[in-house]
Amino acid sequence: MVDRPRMDEADPLSWMREQMPVLRTLGAAGEPLAGTTVGVASHLEPSTGFFIETLHEAGAEVLATASQADSTHDDVVDHLDSLERVETFADASMDDDALDVAHRRLLDCEPELLLDDGAELVVKAHDDVSDVAGAVRAAAEQTTSGVSRVEAMADADRLRVPVYRVNHTPMKHQFDNVHGTGESALTNIAMITNTIIAGRTVVVAGYGYVGKGVARKARDLGAETVVTEIDPRKALKARMDGHRVVPMAEAAAEGDLFVTATGNCRVIRDEHFERMPDEAMLANVGHMDVELDLDALRERAVEVTETDQGITRYHLPDGRRLDVLARGRLVNLTGPFSQGHPAAVMDTTFGAMFVAGRDLADGPVPEPGVHDLPDDLDREVAELKLDAMGIAIDELTDKQAAYLDSWNREETLAEWESERS
Ligand code: NAI
Repeated sequence: MVDRPRMDEADPLSWMREQMPVLRTLGAAGEPLAGTTVGVASHLEPSTGFFIETLHEAGAEVLATASQADSTHDDVVDHLDSLERVETFADASMDDDALDVAHRRLLDCEPELLLDDGAELVVKAHDDVSDVAGAVRAAAEQTTSGVSRVEAMADADRLRVPVYRVNHTPMKHQFDNVHGTGESALTNIAMITNTIIAGRTVVVAGYGYVGKGVARKARDLGAETVVTEIDPRKALKARMDGHRVVPMAEAAAEGDLFVTATGNCRVIRDEHFERMPDEAMLANVGHMDVELDLDALRERAVEVTETDQGITRYHLPDGRRLDVLARGRLVNLTGPFSQGHPAAVMDTTFGAMFVAGRDLADGPVPEPGVHDLPDDLDREVAELKLDAMGIAIDELTDKQAAYLDSWNREETLAEWESERS
């Protein structure tokens, strides 16, 4: 369990309500979720607390749980428990096994909609091979790893409900994954270790949306950045963006700080630990805690100590020490000081999850399978955000729209030219 300071005296969501105008606007627009029971799994930190409060304000009955152990804030849980029509199934002391039981208890309460993170609820709702649990009609998924899990279920003909892959909308992955994770990961690493990023060699494994954000922001802070990849196109992109690209076997010997962001397993393993410099720091921002092979590191170590809150030090036989942050779990969410992403970014992520839930609750749901969030819903979130930021943009004129729709553009322009003369 992470020893996290509580904000008993203060309302733990007051700051979030101020910082999340998209959710505020969506929550104030009637009660589109009245009569709908929504199961939510996410990191139960303050911005998720406000998301749940918004669903509640929109009329939903909410069953809320944590998507992972170690990211739950008890003050947020206490606040949610004080709301009528909200029931929580998590507390900060829960380990993986206890959380698994909590997820099943939530599903026993028969939610109709699942707003999921990492596909924790969707997968468990399909425990029965031929059916889906209780009343579940549809779901939306907010992270990359969860989308890849539900896509794998669809490929194996196991998915029995429609799932919106909210992670894949521009309003989610271009902001949350790139900027939210990029900034919150480095902020939390700096807070946990009291280290400086400038002048260090930072190795980022994976150059998808998350890796791109971490690498770019580390470089902006003055680090030398090295990227490892398995996809030639992503590797090329990393190189053209100005990062050095090498295999992990080579990067292992150079890094001061390693950050995994792949959604894959055992990306940094024994052969890499063998080559790392003394006091190298290892952190993970991928969804699951399997990107660092900690079993191998434990086996290699002669001693393991907790040097500080959130840092586990592995002492190797040759005298080197390797420091693993936040036990190899999501470093931006599970450290002792972690608040997750900045609220301004979670505003659009949860805005997209909200409109997905509203759409699924509102009318007929799509066929079972994985679906993109309809584009007009994604645009709605973008417009609300721009509006809240006081930013105006141009409107397409009728002529511009006709020009873009035409295949014979020279003729279209010539026609308008003749009208003018
Ligand atoms: P993505 O699919 O865009 O990128 C993953 C990249 O990792 C790909 O380019 C892939 O080629 C690469 N990769 C896979 N195996 C690799 C290996 N062995 N070595 C090097 N590169 C490898 O996914 P995205 O959106 O960047 O997400 C990555 C992970 O971060 C996912 O698990 C996602 O759920 C998680 N995530 C975490 C957040 C947080 O708050 N910490 C927020 C958003 C996403």
